[in-house]
Amino acid sequence: MSKANAKPQTLKPAHKLSNPEMRIYVGDCRDVIPKLPEYAKGAPEKGAAGWGRGGVDLIFADPPFNWNRAYDQWDDNMHREDYVEFTYQWLDLCINCLAPRGSIWVNIPDDTAAEIVMHLKKRGLTMINWCIWHYRFGQNIRHRFISSKVHALYFCKDPFNRTFNEEEILEPSDRATTYADKRTFNKKEGTQGKRLPMDVWYGKWWGRIQGNNKERRPAHDNQIPEVYLERVIRACSNEGDLVMDPFLGSGTTCTVAHELGRKSIGIEYSAQNAKSCFERIKNGCIRIEKDNPTVHVNPLFVRRGATPSAGE
Ligand SMILES: C[S@@+](CC[C@H](N)C(=O)[O-])C[C@H]1O[C@@H](n2cnc3c(N)ncnc32)[C@H](O)[C@@H]1O
Repeated sequence: MSKANAKPQTLKPAHKLSNPEMRIYVGDCRDVIPKLPEYAKGAPEKGAAGWGRGGVDLIFADPPFNWNRAYDQWDDNMHREDYVEFTYQWLDLCINCLAPRGSIWVNIPDDTAAEIVMHLKKRGLTMINWCIWHYRFGQNIRHRFISSKVHALYFCKDPFNRTFNEEEILEPSDRATTYADKRTFNKKEGTQGKRLPMDVWYGKWWGRIQGNNKERRPAHDNQIPEVYLERVIRACSNEGDLVMDPFLGSGTTCTVAHELGRKSIGIEYSAQNAKSCFERIKNGCIRIEKDNPTVHVNPLFVRRGATPSAGE
């Protein structure tokens, strides 16, 4: 067969599950994403045409930071200009995958946050939140302040047509936990004493995953806590939606997405990591449960005064 007549290269997932559909592809996400099937509206749930480029509801990307980390395969020590170019390339590919109502979250430290924000804005996406993931087990550093945060950048294609499930992620307000403010208990049913989380994220289960942590996957010092992905996925997608992670790592995104009934695509450069992700996804989450959203209680100050009850 001449080259011109050759069939387009089909992409085979290295691992897959059904109910809900989950596929892991091994390779550089810049090679894999263009080969994903094109999303065909109205296509049956099963089969490649029902999902893919143009149909992804939510992307969560936690790329290599270019900090010379010892990843299984990936060289995490590019020249700075090459790393920035790499960043723009995968961002553009991800944007092409988003459904019109889709959102993208990027987890990124200080050194590349500005470039990513500017690039996404240039590409016409709208910033909804610039959140901070704050952790208190940073590396000791001298001659400057210790790093204790990563940026969680939340962008969408259309700010007037996006999924945001407030009721899935409410948490006790400071008015309820600290200030004994009775007005918060007179709010509409289901929201009494609660509000949406603030844009700095910390608290129980929110620390960096350490070696002795129950959640920790072997050989993964970059694993993100399940509760972080729980918040993003519950808020920005619905059951049955399609979630994608171009840098799957230890598999947190697909593990949480699968637990919460979302379809998912994970891409990982290392075949060994991908295999470990698959085992993790099959075993399910350690901390979170589908029908029982984690409630975060993170007051900074001790309670002042007694708790009033509704109607007071
Ligand atoms: C920061 S880690 C992701 C951690 C992940 N969020 C978790 O919770 O485990 C980045 C991962 O991306 C993978 N990776 C690096 N470059 C890649 C590329 N171009 N395409 C796909 N995966 C890549 C690395 O092997 C590593 O496992």
